[in-house]
Amino acid sequence: MAEKENTSYRITDERIRGLLQERSKSNVEYWSFRGRSKRNAAHSLIQYPAMMVPQMQGEIIDILLAAKPNSTTIFDPFVGSGTVLTEAMRCGKRFIGFDINPLAILACQAKAGPFYLDALSDKIEKLTSRIANDRKRQIEINFPGWEKWFDRDVASKLSKVTRSIRSEPMLWARRFFWLAVVELTRAVSNSRTSTFKLHKRSDDDPVPAADEIVEMFQEVLETNFAAYSEQAQLIAPSLSKGTYSKPVIIKIQDSVKKSQLLSLTEQVDLMVTSPPYGDNKTTVPYGQFSFLALQWIDLKDIDLDLSEDILKSTHEIDARSLGGSIKNSAQRAGGLREISPSFWQIYEKLIVDSDTESNAKRYAAFASDLLLSIENASQYLRRGGYAVWTLGNRNTGGHVIPLADIVAECFEYCGIEEIVRLKRSIPYKRTPIKNNVSATMTEETTLILRKR
Ligand SMILES: C[S@@+](CC[C@H](N)C(=O)[O-])C[C@H]1O[C@@H](n2cnc3c(N)ncnc32)[C@H](O)[C@@H]1O
Repeated sequence: MAEKENTSYRITDERIRGLLQERSKSNVEYWSFRGRSKRNAAHSLIQYPAMMVPQMQGEIIDILLAAKPNSTTIFDPFVGSGTVLTEAMRCGKRFIGFDINPLAILACQAKAGPFYLDALSDKIEKLTSRIANDRKRQIEINFPGWEKWFDRDVASKLSKVTRSIRSEPMLWARRFFWLAVVELTRAVSNSRTSTFKLHKRSDDDPVPAADEIVEMFQEVLETNFAAYSEQAQLIAPSLSKGTYSKPVIIKIQDSVKKSQLLSLTEQVDLMVTSPPYGDNKTTVPYGQFSFLALQWIDLKDIDLDLSEDILKSTHEIDARSLGGSIKNSAQRAGGLREISPSFWQIYEKLIVDSDTESNAKRYAAFASDLLLSIENASQYLRRGGYAVWTLGNRNTGGHVIPLADIVAECFEYCGIEEIVRLKRSIPYKRTPIKNNVSATMTEETTLILRKR
């Protein structure tokens, strides 16, 4: 019986390889998606760091669904801005998404709908008229040092926006509005828009005048409404009176830890994701990117159980993220030695040199968290189900980290074998973070693996 099953799995693997290769037959750069990565509809609702190319993930999902037509559920344990969510909805599938960052969860909640377009249009009108009639001067944020990040007159206008969103009775509409606040705060705060880290703007990069803020907000709302309408049209066959007809579960969850949901949900057919490519100190600090916007947003509108503690410092979200704590890093590295020789090879080189010792600790903490998240996520995957993990290159302490090899070895340890790898060269600089430990990514690898 098991042998018969394995043979059938291998036939499906072969089919998938064939379908993938067919695309790149006449163009070896096919999977780079150069000039074919424009974000439309729901994909354009937020600018989030290190977003995946929707068209690429969409095509891979289409191919996997063609090879396994009975697949019903797609899971993303590092859901970010929800690129996979939107593609799963395009395919009419059930979806489960986790992220540690409340801002990512908000983006996904808004993208999941409902798409009550007439009601939304009416609510946008009411919202803007409430803002125009608001004469209060109270500032709606009070975290220590907020004046560094927002000029008082800017904060006063943002407070009117916030108050008027709070007056909206429907949660789904408030979430749509809060998402627009994310874009707005980024444009009007004193933090540079060119980096994900919090850095004061330079004098030649002034904030827009406070008088322009309400108009800017209206523009974001209009653009987002158009994207929302486009999305509703795209997924019209899967909508029933504006509501997506399949279950979507989006949860704040540390993917390194076991989830309560595991026992509640059935196993998934596809796991499609892109984890952080390294610890957030040297790659992308998703938490810092989100910190200022989240100060304006009612956290209870994202999750009733969410404590304000998550914003107790600019580093808190990042400290809770993959590799955020370097405690017991040597012991954790030791735990990976047998599982991932590719990890160990670089670790040994980094740890012996006092110049790179701290890189070694961060690298070990990140990799051991990544292994735990792979172990956890793997339990969700049905036998014969596929995992699609998109990963980026980076350097640390002068060494290129073979992240795809490390991830493939961790999956192998969990009984999930590599079927094929796709490479995508990145034609432009996507992580505007320069420092001495992490170089700009130039290539991404997408691993496709299958559970035995
Ligand atoms: C590369 S991004 C995902 C981007 C996403 N694929 C997209 O297209 O927007 C990685 C995500 O992992 C999240 N993350 C980091 N550590 C996490 C953890 N321990 N548990 C769950 N999510 C985590 C970050 O907040 C971030 O949103």
